[in-house]
Amino acid sequence: MSDLTDITGQVAVVTGGTAGMGEAAAIRFGIEGAKVAVIGRTPEKGEAVVKRIMEAGGEAMFVKAECADESQVKAATKTILDTWGRADILVNTAGGFIDSPPLEDVTLDDMHHSYDWNVIAKFLITRELVPAMKAKKYGRIVNIASVAGRTARGGAIEYATTEAGIIGLSRRLATELAGDGITVNAIAPGLVLTPRVLRHAEEVLDARAKSTPVGRIGTPEELAHAIWYFCTPGAGFTTGAVLDVNGGAWIG
Ligand SMILES: NC(=O)c1ccc[n+]([C@@H]2O[C@H](COP(=O)([O-])OP(=O)(O)OC[C@H]3O[C@@H](n4cnc5c(N)ncnc54)[C@H](OP(=O)(O)O)[C@@H]3O)[C@@H](O)[C@H]2O)c1
Repeated sequence: MSDLTDITGQVAVVTGGTAGMGEAAAIRFGIEGAKVAVIGRTPEKGEAVVKRIMEAGGEAMFVKAECADESQVKAATKTILDTWGRADILVNTAGGFIDSPPLEDVTLDDMHHSYDWNVIAKFLITRELVPAMKAKKYGRIVNIASVAGRTARGGAIEYATTEAGIIGLSRRLATELAGDGITVNAIAPGLVLTPRVLRHAEEVLDARAKSTPVGRIGTPEELAHAIWYFCTPGAGFTTGAVLDVNGGAWIG
């Protein structure tokens, strides 16, 4: 393994690691030799991911937390740092989606909830883990946004707004943390076949696949591969970037 890609022994924290692309990223990090902290709200799902990582020869633990709750995030990050003493990689996939109505019917609660789930959840854990990264002058942070935050074409109002906020947060942190050896990048996925998407009717998914230039929907493993690149030592010159992983559905 090259020095550019070797993450053996590093500690990777994955919020929303209990399902979808977070789960795929957590498993990938485990296979690559990192110690993985899987954060989510549902212990059965989290323990199942930990089991898969262990079966693949990796080391992992599940840490229960609602990522939009400050005290739960503080407790979760304390557990991770007390156990492993470091945090090298943080991947924020935990996020939420409300199928919001037209503007006139969007409630203030819809906007606040979306901001909590998509922006605050990423801000809180980043704030808690950055001091450990600064201490080692090394860190890799990846925030999962969405194509909805890149284009004005569709997407619920509160979702498109807060996904764009994730990109703003990532860019701003990239400038603040660059001098400490910490990179911050964002990924804006198009439609990816995760549990939340699998709930859609087959005809809807077929139509989305046909309207995507590559002719299909993405897989969680493809997203995990993009995430992995940003988290390697060799990606140290890449910061403040937004990577569109969407099968050509939107090209900026
Ligand atoms: N799938 C797509 O097509 C797509 C496209 C663009 C962007 N995205 C974004 O990608 C991210 C991941 O989506 P996904 O589809 O891969 O996964 P997902 O099906 O939404 O599952 C992610 C898991 O994260 C956990 N989670 C969510 N909010 C949380 C919170 N506030 N605190 C703690 N855990 C939380 C949940 O597990 P627990 O039950 O354990 O809490 C959930 O099962 C989201 O931010 C989403 O907006 C997805």
